[in-house]
Amino acid sequence: MIILGLTATISWNTAAALVQDGRLVAAAEQERFNRIKQAPRIPPVEAAEFCLQSAGIDPADVDCIAVGFASPMRYALLRGLGTARSLAGHDFLLTAPSVAEYMIQQYKLRQRLFDAMPELASKKWVYVPHHIAHAASAYRASGFQETGVLVTDGNGERDSTQTGFAKNGELTVLDSKAADQSLGGLYSNTTSLLGFSRHIDEGKTMGLAAYGTPKYPLEALRIHDGTYTMPRSYIRDGFWKDFPFQRHKGDEITQEHKDFAASVQHRLEEAGIALAQGIHNRTGYRRLALAGGVVLNCDMNAKILQQDFVDDIYIQPAAHDAGTAIGAALEVAAQLGEPGGFVMDHAYWGPEYSAAEIQATLDETKVPYEKPRDIEQATADLLSKGLILGWFQGRMEIGPRALGGRSILANPGMAEMKDRVNAEVKHREGWRPFAPSMLAESADDLVENSYPSPFMLLTFTVRKEWRERLAAATHIDHTVRSQTVTRDTNSRFYGMIEKFRDLTGIPAVMNTSFNDRGEPIVMSPRDALRTFFSTGLDALAIGDFVVRKKTPAPDE
Ligand SMILES: [Fe+2]
Repeated sequence: MIILGLTATISWNTAAALVQDGRLVAAAEQERFNRIKQAPRIPPVEAAEFCLQSAGIDPADVDCIAVGFASPMRYALLRGLGTARSLAGHDFLLTAPSVAEYMIQQYKLRQRLFDAMPELASKKWVYVPHHIAHAASAYRASGFQETGVLVTDGNGERDSTQTGFAKNGELTVLDSKAADQSLGGLYSNTTSLLGFSRHIDEGKTMGLAAYGTPKYPLEALRIHDGTYTMPRSYIRDGFWKDFPFQRHKGDEITQEHKDFAASVQHRLEEAGIALAQGIHNRTGYRRLALAGGVVLNCDMNAKILQQDFVDDIYIQPAAHDAGTAIGAALEVAAQLGEPGGFVMDHAYWGPEYSAAEIQATLDETKVPYEKPRDIEQATADLLSKGLILGWFQGRMEIGPRALGGRSILANPGMAEMKDRVNAEVKHREGWRPFAPSMLAESADDLVENSYPSPFMLLTFTVRKEWRERLAAATHIDHTVRSQTVTRDTNSRFYGMIEKFRDLTGIPAVMNTSFNDRGEPIVMSPRDALRTFFSTGLDALAIGDFVVRKKTPAPDE
């Protein structure tokens, strides 16, 4: 059975996914195709076309289309009921435009999809509630038979945080919190208050938190009995009164801003731990599957994993709304009786390009290139010498992290690389940290309390003896948002890191996403060349080929 999963176009980031016989076969975010960061509220039509083409499936053979949000009618009903329940009724002013916009967006999605693939017009559409889709993207991909489930994001139809548990493919919801209790909303408002862009720059808030002290108590966010609560108007009004130092874009970042970021981060972590504790208390389960945009917060995830009642954790790599395309498709597949057991143990579900396609682009653009005998060795050599490389290999990743498919790499043992890559390549603030991708077998040597981290969604403290050799990829608080790389899931990336280790003694490379500031991660060879030539990248390892600029390596 073939199920095409889509995010609803009410989402801030849109994507498509394809599930065949209960297993994911392709997934990609729309932003990579139209080159608009996150593709907010843009129908994921090109992403859907890619999914079908890459799997060799004719649109006529699709069995049904699964969407990670309630149907427009049900959404109108849910929002209407919510408004009616609110005696003040003032939410109606927010509800009516929101419902109208969703209806228009869904209409637009259908029209654009049917224009591109008319055969889809006759297919059945199944709408999966937003938080059920998020939940399914985690527990149906985790390989866990029995697990606690935590979903937390900005908001879905009406809810913002959902706890539950899954047993043998059946989800039971324990608790849902309304949109006005949104941890995602709280964090996005913090991001905005700190002068960054909400829905985009939440990672900056988390990065900044490490430079501050959590001295603002934020007591209105009450944490108790395995959950949290906050006053109904807190996110909208009260929260702003707790912090009188609003920063505007371009203003200097003061210690107050850093302390406030640290305070909100600290409270978020406490809320996340409380929710996990609440699930454990009610189920006894020591496993957790996580999804929703808030769980892109790797510091919170790490704190949850550190609790003595949590043995195992699975975090959906596309934890934001893009992942609801995957979750909706997996959920509908399960409802239709398709086999379970799928484990999403890697994120490489996007487009890939053959050696011939890559070479054709290099020839067409008249770029001089070499074809070394061993691309892994050639890359490791250049990295060890201090060059900053673009790394374009295999299938593109789904999710906001580059994981060795479309990455920018550097030598983590050269401390100056952090400033150089921030200034010359990524054109971003000097305080932003980078991450290391390390051989999975070496993780225990490098960090404390190591745990598999294939999606770069957990942080760990670097062991003292490795701090210098991982200096460029370590945050100010000695933590790393590391990726553990296995040969099974990305043999070329793994092999290259092995060769880099043989040259330098460091079993890790510094890894950041292959994009310039404000742009989506590159998808195609042409995107890679455009970013290569418009930034300070020194070399590009693309498929079997190496492209170099005239910059010599520091020791050449
Ligand atoms: Fe969401």
